Amino acid sequence: MPRLQDKTALITGAARGIGAAIAQAYANEGASVIVTDIDDTLGQQTAKNICARYEHLDVSSEADWQAIAAAIPALDILVNNAGITGFESGEMVHDPENASLEAWRAVHAVNLDGTFMGCRYGIGAMKAKSTGSIINISSRSGLVGIPGAAAYASSKAAIRNHSKSVALYCAQKGWNIRCNSVHPAAILTPIWEPMIGDGPDRDAKMAALVADTPMKRFGLPEEVAALCVMLGSDEAAYMTGAELTLDGGLLAGSAASPG
Ligand SMILES: NC(=O)c1ccc[n+]([C@@H]2O[C@H](COP(=O)([O-])OP(=O)(O)OC[C@H]3O[C@@H](n4cnc5c(N)ncnc54)[C@H](O)[C@@H]3O)[C@@H](O)[C@H]2O)c1
Repeated sequence: MPRLQDKTALITGAARGIGAAIAQAYANEGASVIVTDIDDTLGQQTAKNICARYEHLDVSSEADWQAIAAAIPALDILVNNAGITGFESGEMVHDPENASLEAWRAVHAVNLDGTFMGCRYGIGAMKAKSTGSIINISSRSGLVGIPGAAAYASSKAAIRNHSKSVALYCAQKGWNIRCNSVHPAAILTPIWEPMIGDGPDRDAKMAALVADTPMKRFGLPEEVAALCVMLGSDEAAYMTGAELTLDGGLLAGSAASPG
């Protein structure tokens, strides 16, 4: 029996990358999937490929969340996946000393405000049945500092903590609405392209990026999706407020262990 049969799932930022892989895996497991994104052309294509519904949703826009709440009043699973690094249009200064307030706020508006509004809407859409699963895609960067990407790290750390507040709030209310955070690292998706580039040093740059990863490779979007299937399903019925790393062993310790 498919693991997500009879469940309705909405995934943000699902036109490509990790979100698209989650949408595909959810469809494979029998869920009724709603793909959402700001890239309507790619989002509609992704949805069409998996026979899913598409809705425009800029997660940083409260008006867009209100429109989604009106169009899709009931949900079983919500994946707050949409996120930006702040480097989408090329190199920018994001260290704690020199990052601009504008750049800082732009990253938080999508990653943190988007997740906050998603949780608020998700609770509203799950309350009637008193059951559901909210999955917040944080990052390894939500657990450690990143000097050159301080806004991203701060926003992802706040997602980790807010997931626990949501989990406790729903439990206090007596609802079976679970909320967990997922912390991937180095998953090969288009988010890395501005940092890797397509120059002759592409392979060397990729190898350098995973040099400290004990498993010495990038992870795959499908590997994040597999965890999200479990968290969305009733198999995870007793899991709430948890943080799950998915990082090839990066946060387990140092790859350079004593001989
Ligand atoms: N790829 C990694 O290595 C990695 C590691 C840790 C965490 N993450 C997190 O996983 C999530 C997905 O990352 P990805 O690698 O698939 O990225 P990606 O850039 O490939 O895809 C992100 C998607 O989000 C959409 N998006 C951007 N701004 C949006 C907004 N305001 N509203 C709605 N959608 C918006 C984009 O159009 C795109 O389709 C992000 O939250 C990211 O921070 C990724």
